[in-house]
Amino acid sequence: MKGVVVEQTGGPEVLQFRTSQPVPTPQAGQLLVRNNLAGVNYIDTYFRTGLYASPKPEVLGREGAGTVTAVGDGTSGFTVGDRVAWMGTGGYAEYTAVPAAKTVKIPDGVSDEDVLAAFLSGMTVLTLAKETYPVQKGDWVLLHAAAGGAGFLMTQVLKIMGAKVIGTAGGPEKCALVKSLGADVVIDYRSEEGKDWVKLVKEATGGRGVDVVFDSVGKDTWEGSLEAVKRKGTIIWFGNASGPVPPIALPLLSPKCVKIARPQLFGYIETREEFEYYFNELLSLLQSGQLKVKVHKVYPLEQVAQAHIDLEGRKTTGKLLLKP
Ligand SMILES: NC(=O)c1ccc[n+]([C@@H]2O[C@H](COP(=O)([O-])OP(=O)(O)OC[C@H]3O[C@@H](n4cnc5c(N)ncnc54)[C@H](OP(=O)(O)O)[C@@H]3O)[C@@H](O)[C@H]2O)c1
Repeated sequence: MKGVVVEQTGGPEVLQFRTSQPVPTPQAGQLLVRNNLAGVNYIDTYFRTGLYASPKPEVLGREGAGTVTAVGDGTSGFTVGDRVAWMGTGGYAEYTAVPAAKTVKIPDGVSDEDVLAAFLSGMTVLTLAKETYPVQKGDWVLLHAAAGGAGFLMTQVLKIMGAKVIGTAGGPEKCALVKSLGADVVIDYRSEEGKDWVKLVKEATGGRGVDVVFDSVGKDTWEGSLEAVKRKGTIIWFGNASGPVPPIALPLLSPKCVKIARPQLFGYIETREEFEYYFNELLSLLQSGQLKVKVHKVYPLEQVAQAHIDLEGRKTTGKLLLKP
């Protein structure tokens, strides 16, 4: 089968497209899925570069959508031919053996593309806004990288929840996109004026600062995020697009009594009940038309390196997908 293998950590060039990978055999608790599409997430770049440790050789890719072609022992509720979306590992391939516990059936009338454009990213966004910091109507929220895969969905979810959203994004086109999603204030943090985004956030909030910052940019924004948050506010660091946040001296949090959190999706969807809860929440937002998805591009699997180059080069908005 076709698949992309990473033998050692490095740049996009370590993504090796192959046509003679063995088709995996589903083990107990697994399903074999023929992927119609696979999602590209920023976390894939962390495993590629070695920022996050994982055994090599490795097939990257944490999610996909396709058809069940075989069921392993001890699985129930799935049969060959089911159209499903899954989370696991090894998505950059034609076939993946996936955990049945992290697989859901895609209902008729919803496309693989729509589900996958919102699946891992959208469930992340829902866990962040409902559990990490339960967003309240009227909260001032600062969201970095608001035009990205997660950001595009999060801007909408925050508006649905009644928040006042300040979105940052790089460049006028991205900012126009974020504005079109209903963000109250949009700051181009790469422009001359926007470089001082902390000042602009303070101005927008009457000098007070925001109730919560959702920061997935990390290294380049963490200091500003600490300044932009209000007294008794919260900062949620959930990604490292510019590099990881350095170790923080806890006394820095004292003057404003700031709370910080560093969540990850899988900690919120460990049980089947939690996983289904967030998937159903996501599905109802999609099916009601409240949540729009945006696919930046569907890349043929052999162009996976280009997908990583575009994502890390800040050239994309919305979700990147691969077609095996
Ligand atoms: N904790 C979790 O469970 C979890 C789950 C899913 C995603 N995440 C995190 O959420 C973030 C978004 O993921 P995504 O897959 O949707 O990616 P994405 O937001 O589509 O892409 C990353 C964006 O970050 C911004 N950025 C700022 N500085 C950057 C830099 N130095 N290099 C590259 N990009 C930079 C860019 O937008 P601008 O050009 O607008 O700045 C870029 O488009 C990532 O940090 C990811 O790790 C975390």
